[in-house]
Amino acid sequence: MKTPQFIQLYHEDLAAIRQELLEGLQAPQAHTSPKFLYDALGSRLFEAITELPEYYPTRTEAAIFQAHGQAMASRVPPHATLIDLGAGNCNKAASLFERFAPARYVAVDISVDFLKNALECLQRQYPALDMVGIGMDFSSRFELPEQAGSAQDPRILFYPGSSIGNFTPDQALAFLKDVHRACGSAPGSGLLIGVDLVKDHAELQVAYDDALGVTAAFNRNLLPHINRLVGSDMQLADWRHMALFNPQDSRIEMHLLANRDLTVTWPGGSRAFAKDARIHTENSYKWTIDGFKQLLQEAGFAQAEVWTDAPHPAHGRFAVMWASA
Ligand code: AVJ
Repeated sequence: MKTPQFIQLYHEDLAAIRQELLEGLQAPQAHTSPKFLYDALGSRLFEAITELPEYYPTRTEAAIFQAHGQAMASRVPPHATLIDLGAGNCNKAASLFERFAPARYVAVDISVDFLKNALECLQRQYPALDMVGIGMDFSSRFELPEQAGSAQDPRILFYPGSSIGNFTPDQALAFLKDVHRACGSAPGSGLLIGVDLVKDHAELQVAYDDALGVTAAFNRNLLPHINRLVGSDMQLADWRHMALFNPQDSRIEMHLLANRDLTVTWPGGSRAFAKDARIHTENSYKWTIDGFKQLLQEAGFAQAEVWTDAPHPAHGRFAVMWASA
């Protein structure tokens, strides 16, 4: 049996994190990066979100892989290196192993600690598969380290879950250019990506403001997390969740709204928030199929094949695209 290898390239810089957060909190429109939603509790709350009746993306994407996995397998190169961006518990990629028969599995996430259990467990199920866990932050710049394997071997870059939606269109283009480069030089390589589509506003709205209040808890959980990171004194009772669809920018926005006039204090500074003032905590961009195809093309990909949950792709709620490099 092989054993997984682990490489941690990202090293948390608390001073830089503190500075980034305080800059955002003091900006004219206060904002924080969505990456701060995922402390230990936040990650569990997100998992709970994926099980909510209103949150269609996760189960819709899973159904697309169920229905079209065979067709996808016929497009992707055999014996490839499957490179999983934001692997987490590795379940989505693992569900493709039988059909895609990769020679090597590279799981990338911010921390190898998240990947350790999952990869060790998977290695017992797939003893002959080469496995590598890489801890790196690819949110600003993405370049694969050499431990990911030879660029002469075919590669499948895998980016499911519509995580691409957290990037602005400009950032998404820069990221996809990096991904295109990371596909390497072997013929047949490409990107398999999940993209959430523009749809009825009411359906989008409830997906990000569910009746049970799990998304509200996910958003508000930012407050204690930020308090721990910067030593601030934000109180849960002072802030409420809001989600809105911004049609100009084609994105769902999450905000935290102040319930009263208040001042947030941290060592060395403070900021006043009037009642109903906002902290903008996340953007989740929604794409059209044609818009995303064009983005892929601008990033350097050849042509894209699209699968959705509807008989006519234009009516799908979610899309999985294979873009050959
Ligand atoms: C993990 C970024 C894909 O945008 O739908 C879910 C995060 N935020 N509910 C999304 C999220 C609120 C999610 N992504």
